[in-house]
Amino acid sequence: MTLQFDDAGQLRHLLTLEGIPRATLLAVLDRAQAFVDAGPDGNATHRALLAGSAVCTLFFEPSTRTRLSFQRAAQRLGADVLSFDASTSSTTKGETARDTLRTIEAMGVRGFVVRDARDGAVAALAAAAAPGAALVNAGDGRKAHPTQGLLDMLTLRQALGADFAAMKVLVVGDVRHSRVARSDLHALRTLGGDGIDLRVCGPAALLPDDGTLRGCRVGDDLDAMLEGVDAVMMLRLQRERMADGLVASLDDYHRDFGLTAARLQNAAPGAVVLHPGPMNRGVEIDDDVADGKHSVILRQVANGVAVRMAVLEALLGPRAP
Ligand code: NCD
Repeated sequence: MTLQFDDAGQLRHLLTLEGIPRATLLAVLDRAQAFVDAGPDGNATHRALLAGSAVCTLFFEPSTRTRLSFQRAAQRLGADVLSFDASTSSTTKGETARDTLRTIEAMGVRGFVVRDARDGAVAALAAAAAPGAALVNAGDGRKAHPTQGLLDMLTLRQALGADFAAMKVLVVGDVRHSRVARSDLHALRTLGGDGIDLRVCGPAALLPDDGTLRGCRVGDDLDAMLEGVDAVMMLRLQRERMADGLVASLDDYHRDFGLTAARLQNAAPGAVVLHPGPMNRGVEIDDDVADGKHSVILRQVANGVAVRMAVLEALLGPRAP
């Protein structure tokens, strides 16, 4: 994906983690970690970083944490924040995404955080963006959710240390419809190289055959797949993206693929449990796991703000000569 780099090799848009070099991923994680470490003491300094810039969240699909955490990140960098919600906008009168983008660009906005239900829609919009504009993909269809991938990597690194090659990571559930899983797997392969033990578990009907599972051990026996893992990345059962009949019943799904406290005993003692949210409690994850001592789900949310600060700064901040 060359669209996301400019001629000087600088990141211009963030559309996918596929093809982003390891050093670039690590630089974003390091910068995000510095934002975490600075805490509220850094507020005054950070607010100068994007002072005078404007960022618009352009969401054509629902969101809670992604949109709010991008807004929070932009605010913490001192940017002005505009929020566009398709359901209350002229999209309902037939205005296209392209015309919407051009309209907001004409107001002097340079940063756009875009979510769209159609695969590839954000890249198509980036191709049509004005020269100074930067787009961040906040989730397009089933394809990519790069900042979720980055915040998951930051969360893994905090919990397990910096050596991704030594990690055993299991992704569980509806990988077929998951842009989160695709971005996580791109990042894990880049950061973990040949050493990482990557596993994917789910019902055959919910596993993709498009190359997403490259390099992963794949199986449908959750207890066996959990054996000794350091991290379990649970996915939401994405019924709104699914043809009817792919899953027999929610009870069956929970029986075979739900993460229970008893099942989690198969993982390594210090294993962490991630979930991008929103959770279907009692379907893919039980309450006592979601809220238990292995869960880093709210840490993911907190890291989301720091990672999005790092990404917005990289795209919109002052550039080194
Ligand atoms: C995810 C999404 O929308 O892709 N949520 C999120 O951004 N944290 C995952 C999902 O919808 O299941």
